[in-house]
Amino acid sequence: MTSKWLKESLRLIQEDELSRILDNPSLAPLVGSALAATGRGVPNFDSLLAIPSETTIDERALLRAFFEKMWSGRGHVLEIGPFMGGTTRAIATGMMANPNRSGDSKLCTFDRFGHYKADDGLYDFAYSLVETGQLQEDELRRLCQGGSFLDLFHAIHDDTDYGDLIVTTAGELRDAPAAVVQGDTLELPEGFVCDAVFIDGCKSWYGTKEFAMNVLPHLNPGCPLIFQDYGWHTTFWVSALIHLIPNAFELFANIDMTYAFRLTRPLTVDEVDRCFPDSVEDMGINRTIGLFTETERLAVERSDVRGIVSSRLHLAAGLAYLGSTADCIGILDTMLANPVYRQFHGQIGVARRQPTYRPDGGIFLSEPIVEKNDLPLTAPV
Ligand SMILES: C[S@@+](CC[C@H](N)C(=O)[O-])C[C@H]1O[C@@H](n2cnc3c(N)ncnc32)[C@H](O)[C@@H]1O
Repeated sequence: MTSKWLKESLRLIQEDELSRILDNPSLAPLVGSALAATGRGVPNFDSLLAIPSETTIDERALLRAFFEKMWSGRGHVLEIGPFMGGTTRAIATGMMANPNRSGDSKLCTFDRFGHYKADDGLYDFAYSLVETGQLQEDELRRLCQGGSFLDLFHAIHDDTDYGDLIVTTAGELRDAPAAVVQGDTLELPEGFVCDAVFIDGCKSWYGTKEFAMNVLPHLNPGCPLIFQDYGWHTTFWVSALIHLIPNAFELFANIDMTYAFRLTRPLTVDEVDRCFPDSVEDMGINRTIGLFTETERLAVERSDVRGIVSSRLHLAAGLAYLGSTADCIGILDTMLANPVYRQFHGQIGVARRQPTYRPDGGIFLSEPIVEKNDLPLTAPV
């Protein structure tokens, strides 16, 4: 009924009025849900689920539909952090289906391709590839030895109809300015035209800065940047990047933890460097509080309840990172005690145990005190 009424109302609105109405970040969840529903409906969608992934089904469905329907098809696509390539397949199959794709466009995917999970962890995570007959058990065992998953990535993707689109680079975003890099750094070659970026490998504050300094100045206004981690509680640096550079990003779609933005103006290395400090410590407590108070205000303005929750979790994470443990616990316990956030208690409970991490390991909090006869403060995950 609602959808019939909505369709009829949209039909009556003039096209120029419609663009003005739709140019509104409050509609980002609607666009995100529409893309995910479209993606779920494509033939062979099941092939996207055949690769073990650390993203949700709707996040991959959004990528599948975005790259078929909304990507310009002109330049290359850059992916940071494919892991085994669940998101890579979603993007690549979308690119293949896009009628505007130029024959030269590639999906360039950058990852450490190693040191992410222990050998056994990698094997266990990938085991469904054996269960579904995609790999033999001994082949998987061999591919998971030694920590690298580059050969496993190639075994999954090379022999597919999109295999020729993919260019892998094994390299590293430095976690600190003086960190020594294993493999290549993220440096876009001269003349590399990139017209969409998917980011799922910015796993530290400085790594995010390194990504931003090396990629953002090469992008043209309008370029989409799809951040998988924007809504995840630990990775507060992703949201910080978007909001510390003024008026540079416009939200157009979100689903689950994934938020998609468009670059609104050209950026220079100098500007990125000036706007985004080298470390959370350089940012300091007062700026951290100011930043996530502002992201919460923006989430309230667009009625994004998940965004409100993420902003608070990001503030809690930033405070824990800077050593303000009691303030972090105060924020999280207040949220857990508030029934308004019941829908998000699973994620808040996870944050209550580990609000964030540093490049050298997790930051953990003491267990919440549960009074006898009280409801537990953390919900099972
Ligand atoms: C959450 S996983 C990506 C999940 C993937 N998109 C999927 O579909 O399952 C994060 C990836 O980022 C990579 N990564 C983490 N830190 C990195 C760094 N500093 N430089 C390069 N890659 C990194 C990891 O190796 C891992 O493959």
